[in-house]
Amino acid sequence: MATKKEIGDKKKTTAKSSQKKVEKVKVVSDKAAMPTEDKKEKKKIKTIGVLTSGGDAPGMNAAVRAVVRTAIANGIAVKGIKRGFSGLIDEDIVDLNSRSVADTIQKGGTFLFTARCPEMITTEGQDLAAANCRKHGIDALVVIGGDGSYKGCLTLKERGINVIGIPGTIDLDIASTEYTIGFDTAVNTAMNAIDKIRDTSTSQERCSIIEVMGRHAGYIALWCGLANGAEAVLTTELYKYEEQKLINDIQTKRKSGRKHYIIINAEGIGDSEGMAKRIEYATGMPTTATILGYLQRGGSPTCKDRVYGSAFGAKAVDILLKGGENRVVAFKNGAFVDFDMEEALSMKKTLDPFLVDMLGKLTRKGDSRLMKNEGLLAVDNEENTGRKTTIGVLTSGMDAPGMNAAIRAVVRSAIGYNMKVFGFRRGYSGLIEKDYLEMTNKTMSETVQRGGTQLLASDCPEFLTEEGQNKAIETLKELKIDALVIIGGNGTMRGGLDLIAKGINVVGIPATIDLDVACTEYTIGFDTAINTAMESIDKIRDTSASHERCSVIEVAGKRSGHNALWCGIATGAEEIITNEYHDQNQQRMISEIINKKKLGKRLHLIVNSESVGKSASLAKNIEFATGLETRATVLGILQCGGTPSCQDRVFASAMGGKAVEVINAGKKNRIVAYQNGEFTDFDMEKAMRLQKFPDAYMAEMSKKLSR
Ligand code: F6P
Repeated sequence: MATKKEIGDKKKTTAKSSQKKVEKVKVVSDKAAMPTEDKKEKKKIKTIGVLTSGGDAPGMNAAVRAVVRTAIANGIAVKGIKRGFSGLIDEDIVDLNSRSVADTIQKGGTFLFTARCPEMITTEGQDLAAANCRKHGIDALVVIGGDGSYKGCLTLKERGINVIGIPGTIDLDIASTEYTIGFDTAVNTAMNAIDKIRDTSTSQERCSIIEVMGRHAGYIALWCGLANGAEAVLTTELYKYEEQKLINDIQTKRKSGRKHYIIINAEGIGDSEGMAKRIEYATGMPTTATILGYLQRGGSPTCKDRVYGSAFGAKAVDILLKGGENRVVAFKNGAFVDFDMEEALSMKKTLDPFLVDMLGKLTRKGDSRLMKNEGLLAVDNEENTGRKTTIGVLTSGMDAPGMNAAIRAVVRSAIGYNMKVFGFRRGYSGLIEKDYLEMTNKTMSETVQRGGTQLLASDCPEFLTEEGQNKAIETLKELKIDALVIIGGNGTMRGGLDLIAKGINVVGIPATIDLDVACTEYTIGFDTAINTAMESIDKIRDTSASHERCSVIEVAGKRSGHNALWCGIATGAEEIITNEYHDQNQQRMISEIINKKKLGKRLHLIVNSESVGKSASLAKNIEFATGLETRATVLGILQCGGTPSCQDRVFASAMGGKAVEVINAGKKNRIVAYQNGEFTDFDMEKAMRLQKFPDAYMAEMSKKLSR
């Protein structure tokens, strides 16, 4: 057996997602797939090892924590291996228990450390790594990392070690999964930085080139391009290195009065400094390059990274418990699933063509001539009908962060399709009171990053009356509106159904922080809302831990528990209370708090759903029975505000564009949705008859994760 010294630097010798089409709408509930391995008797796993490898990614700690706690809950011991495969070769291995992973879920980086390991590409290194697994009694190894780490796993598999891979990289470039741990935090960090650069670029009338990470892949660049409303996005997948075209565009936009020009440049293209010099020389516009670099890899993970990290970790152990061997965990078509490792490595992945198309439409800012030249206009309706198709757009009910991005995409794509757009203020009230404005590219300028809704949103009791609805229809007829785009939650969609019943063509875009619109896995605003709540709960957690206090935090959700489930998992709450899944027995909760207090636990966090409510009385009862100071905090409308998250900006833009595409295709009475990994649309009447529950796999897993 070669030792580490002998290994040296010696080199080694040795589906795309299914495009399911619309009409098949199903209830979103427990879609956690079972491992597809056969379930024949296999050697019982007593000990697993876990390591993080390659570039660190925010959310890796959540995954390790979930591996450890799920394993321990099932009687399996866990060994943590430091610095990725290097730690396996160097035998830097420690025992982990539930306590070792306490207070890690909210931390960036990886507490196990990570490294790129050149030894692992040598035969000797691989032999030693496998031998050390056996030496330390590791029956299976969970590896959290990117494609490179998966390749390392295969070499261990060849040596008889059972390895489970968890996708962890900010680059999102692992083909077998739609999601990789760290991507969401990285794009939000980059987006927030670019928002700031944009402010100074506008003030100084500069061109800014911002280089984002991603190695050879353009996912971060694409998402930031959409989320930041960039003028140009350069990725290896799309850019044809035609710098003169870029220069011409800068000059044209400058002449037309544009104050800044933002270019998002992917790391794979690079050369940002050189490009800045050339652009400044050619255009005379002051041009600066900013390379965001490692900034994007750090920071406390977002809610999505903590929740998906946790689910991936729990799933890895579930696979092992069910006898799975050499699998990789993935998120695909709306569910946590797993694939054979080799099969996963042979898969291919490209940038989402729909998002790429949207980016094209939004950066062209609805220039219909350009779209026509590029064959993007399906129906040049003015030529066919003698008049422009006219659409209306409104936001109704509670506002949700990302609504502006949706309106902006509706307006800009509609103008691109040569349509006329009217915006109605305060939802259905605007229709009744004829309070509207014609929307242009300018009306939506600089709005993608703003919270709330430019068009204002409100409930409209008058619209519930026959008289109110007739007035609304009168306005729509007067303005010759061919289709009305309504952006809001279930109440808004029900209003849409009333209009449909009266012969109006309505297209809905689901927007609510509650995530409770049944036909879609995503609703505009949910992502921002859970991050806002999570950040507040993190703060409450800090002070509660210092004071040895119990805290009950009530999060939004109206009648559903999605917010509570996500925020509870993301903050490591001891108790999550929802109507759908959780036992609300106060006596049990109190006994558990008393027992944990005796064991020395100083913090008790309870995340309660608005749908269950009564947080103040729950806090009083706990304080009375346990003697622990207990406080209730109701987050309320705090969760509706704030600048939208990257996902909310990107998905809202996609949904806005989709709504106009639906209208342009001549479809009627549809609701736009994100389902099974794609933006799609359903018949609104059918879709509104569906029901949905928070993800059962997540609910089940959450019970094993709190100590
Ligand atoms: O894979 C994550 C990543 O941050 C890439 O975006 C980047 O190209 C690379 O890692 C940088 O790697 P290193 O930290 O080893 O320089």
